[in-house]
Amino acid sequence: MKDILNAIQSPDSVSADFAALPLPESGRAVVLRREDTEMFSGLASRDKDPRKSLHLEQVPVPELGPGEALVAVMASSVNYNTVWSAIFEPLPTFAFLERYGKLSELTKRHDLPYHVIGSDLAGVVLRTGPGVNAWNPGDEVVAHCLSVELESSDGHNDTMLDPEQRIWGFETNFGGLAEIALVKSNQLMPKPKHLSWEEAAAPGLVNSTAYRQLVSRNGAGMKQGDNVLIWGASGGLGSYATQFALAGGANPVCVVSSPEKAEICRAMGAEAVIDRNAEGYRFW
Ligand SMILES: NC(=O)c1ccc[n+]([C@@H]2O[C@H](COP(=O)([O-])OP(=O)(O)OC[C@H]3O[C@@H](n4cnc5c(N)ncnc54)[C@H](OP(=O)(O)O)[C@@H]3O)[C@@H](O)[C@H]2O)c1
Repeated sequence: MKDILNAIQSPDSVSADFAALPLPESGRAVVLRREDTEMFSGLASRDKDPRKSLHLEQVPVPELGPGEALVAVMASSVNYNTVWSAIFEPLPTFAFLERYGKLSELTKRHDLPYHVIGSDLAGVVLRTGPGVNAWNPGDEVVAHCLSVELESSDGHNDTMLDPEQRIWGFETNFGGLAEIALVKSNQLMPKPKHLSWEEAAAPGLVNSTAYRQLVSRNGAGMKQGDNVLIWGASGGLGSYATQFALAGGANPVCVVSSPEKAEICRAMGAEAVIDRNAEGYRFW
């Protein structure tokens, strides 16, 4: 793993250097364990502590299949789905892995007694599987979290409607909170050169979700002059929604819970900001 890190950090490394690096048999990863799924039974959600269910462990590097890439992860992120996974709500994610594992010989790899979670990454491609032409060892990438099989025409106009659509690192194994992650190569995008690894790893899931929900033709199709009510406007999805609304000529109406969060929204350029605590707003 040290050799991989050295290669990534050396300005002289070229693709062939990465291709020649031996792959380690195992790497560290943040995992949930199947045997822990009942550990919080009877507790209220707020008392379920992800620190008790998340483990940093050495796990085997997964076998690489067609259309896939192994990526050395330089940064990942914690999302809400990371929290849901770690408290086994609304369902233990092992149920997703089991179902995915039934699809094919290849997906069977995902159905394991441990789940490597994490749905964002920035890193460097180490290996690509058969059929991958667009990406090579040494490419600096970010991965988005949409894993699709795209074997059915249902998803061709909107990949979210693929019957085998999953969130990588939540409904699939081998997610981003690991030294080496496995992705489908069509999840990869070039890492923006002006961003640090951490900056590049942070926006993927929340940015694309807010875009899809609010701007996309397959979502709300926001247009100029629309009034957009944004709950949690200083959070992950909310801050992207606020920026999309402003950039698209719409009027964001931002709901937050404190003067500090209201200030974050104003700093992004929002004018209509409601502090739901100060003004006694209640959800619904
Ligand atoms: N379906 C998908 O594809 C998808 C993808 C990503 C995220 N999500 C979901 O979207 C939600 C937001 O995710 P995120 O990453 O943006 O989380 P986040 O950064 O934690 O933001 C959530 C925001 O919710 C607000 N909030 C908390 N309690 C609230 C309440 N009782 N009433 C109104 N607002 C409340 C908080 O803002 P204030 O304290 O300022 O109100 C907080 O900033 C999560 O439920 C997540 O699971 C879904």
